[in-house]
Amino acid sequence: MNFKIKLSFFLISGFLIPANLLAQPIVVKVNQPKTMIQPTMWGIFFEDINLAADGGIYAELVKNRSFEFAKPLMGWKIMKPDTTTGVLILNQSATNPSNPRYARISVPDGEKSFGLSNEGFRGMGIKKGMTYHFSVLARQSGESNLKMRIELVSASGEKLGSAMLAPEGKEWKKWTVDLTSSGTEQKARLNIWFEGKGSVDLDMISLFPDDTWKNRPGGLRADLVQLLADLKPGFLRFPGGCIVEGRDLNNRYQWKKTIGDISQRQVIVNRWNTEFKHRQTPDYYQSFGLGFFEYFQLAEDIGAEPLPILSCGMACQFNTAELVPVDQLDPYIQDALDLIEFANGSADSKWGKIRLQMGHPAPFNLKMIGVGNEQWGTQYIERYTAFEKAIHSKYPAISLISGTGPSPDGKDFDYASKELKKLQAQIVDEHYYANPEWFLKNARRYDSYDRNSYKIFAGEYAAQSKFTCSPDNQNNWRCALAEAAFMTGLERNADVVSMCSYAPLLAHVEGWQWKPDLIWYDNLRSFGTDNYYVQKMFSNNKGTQVLPMLIENQPLTGQNGLFASAAFDQASGEIILKLVNVSDQPKKANVILEGSKKLAAKGKMLVMKSEDPDRINSLDQPTLVSPLESEFVVKGKTITPDLPGNSFTMIRIRQAK
Ligand code: AHR
Repeated sequence: MNFKIKLSFFLISGFLIPANLLAQPIVVKVNQPKTMIQPTMWGIFFEDINLAADGGIYAELVKNRSFEFAKPLMGWKIMKPDTTTGVLILNQSATNPSNPRYARISVPDGEKSFGLSNEGFRGMGIKKGMTYHFSVLARQSGESNLKMRIELVSASGEKLGSAMLAPEGKEWKKWTVDLTSSGTEQKARLNIWFEGKGSVDLDMISLFPDDTWKNRPGGLRADLVQLLADLKPGFLRFPGGCIVEGRDLNNRYQWKKTIGDISQRQVIVNRWNTEFKHRQTPDYYQSFGLGFFEYFQLAEDIGAEPLPILSCGMACQFNTAELVPVDQLDPYIQDALDLIEFANGSADSKWGKIRLQMGHPAPFNLKMIGVGNEQWGTQYIERYTAFEKAIHSKYPAISLISGTGPSPDGKDFDYASKELKKLQAQIVDEHYYANPEWFLKNARRYDSYDRNSYKIFAGEYAAQSKFTCSPDNQNNWRCALAEAAFMTGLERNADVVSMCSYAPLLAHVEGWQWKPDLIWYDNLRSFGTDNYYVQKMFSNNKGTQVLPMLIENQPLTGQNGLFASAAFDQASGEIILKLVNVSDQPKKANVILEGSKKLAAKGKMLVMKSEDPDRINSLDQPTLVSPLESEFVVKGKTITPDLPGNSFTMIRIRQAK
């Protein structure tokens, strides 16, 4: 045993010195702010993967509400079928191509125990005392007198609430009724029993809780939006991700089909449904109830800049890699131009008027658009060039995001980077899904980037505990800590890096395809991962200017296991320090706030730590690894924070104005 290491204090020249005190001071040059940190620095990346939209943040509880899945009755069960009663699926594509199918329920003999039951998305999360809004588009002819008994039932068959609805009239009409639940249930079902005689046509069978975000009818799950809002994100990137591109061009995300009347938003298959053999999700479709209007509204609600990403005429290059010939790109480019008009145009413009009709007269103040998601090769550069020319000639103030493909280095990356520089690209999206060691090694990645070229959007990153796309990846503390270390490098280089987002964002514990993810949930509960709290600590403590923070005149990028960055916040007058100790040994830092004005007597500290790097948050222990807040005394211009092993510490100290 090394006795000296066991000692917690050394005696040097008559002074007691803590054994773990760093030999060299860390100097923060408070009076030498280097560069601005963009308000967009830390944002969020939303993609409909892992049941993020349908079955996730979009609070609809009925799966396959309009019978448009490939198997029209997927998600539905016919209760007590017999020979005289039945369900027919009719297809009226000639008159309603966006929503062709509907169900015809026939009960010619007055059979009493016939019904339809919907299983929801891995069940329906139902809360005691909560009101649920049922709605349906229905019609039935004069002699038919079918009534619908709507019931919420638990997994064990216990009735939790019921209501009657008697739709009438030959024309399609929306009928609504409310139910209140007498119990809380994770895996409830919706049963619809038909009473009487005749036949009724049904479409858009829907059930929403009353407690949506901002209580908007047909809105979003409030707990999930709250977790997003708590991040105070600088931007919201939507709708992805590869979902933008589609498996083939036909399956790409087409924003114009996601706005207006929800019954006219054409349902398509979600490209993630059968992507991974290990996580088949054949019942994953996109209803687009969360469409582009709702994305813009969400961004506005949580104070984030909207960042839509559009198809550039290239289907996912990991799938079909279909391409639109360059001379046929016009409709794709027109979609981008029209989107700008939809977001920002006046009430007398074609697309601005639709925004107004949807209830948002004020512009959404769109400032940037992404051209393609994660494309690569000469084909991308050709298509980006065409988009850039058209968009900037009509809208010179819109910033364009381009990309260097899925990999942070290599031949395709180098090619895209060189070509985008020549094209004077504005903001370039780089993706890194790699092991935690990569994140530690790359804390200096941007130190040597060209200061006279494009800005960086670190648009998708997450440390992978196993390997990319492994179903065994974990949101553990080792990964989150490596991301924190890397993020100090992003912040330190805020003159080059202007936007960053972890990916993917959301995942249902029973419906995921991709791990790790920032936020997890079941039908009733949700939690932020270790990685979520790292993101939150950076985003909530962003500051406005980078301050040099040096040890032996060098930035802290792993010396003694430490990574660090410093910022100044002009609004509050605070100095903000972020220190990441990736070693398992505690350290005591000696931080000199050089050139600072008089400091407040007390500072605030948030510490995230775990001795066990495999520790993860979960539905049952949602904040096991999360920041703990404390105060500390400031004496003069030096502070000596304790940095526990495997920890991330954020410090705020107010400076006199
Ligand atoms: O985040 C998951 C996927 O990773 C995204 O859809 C894609 O852009 C990347 O390959």
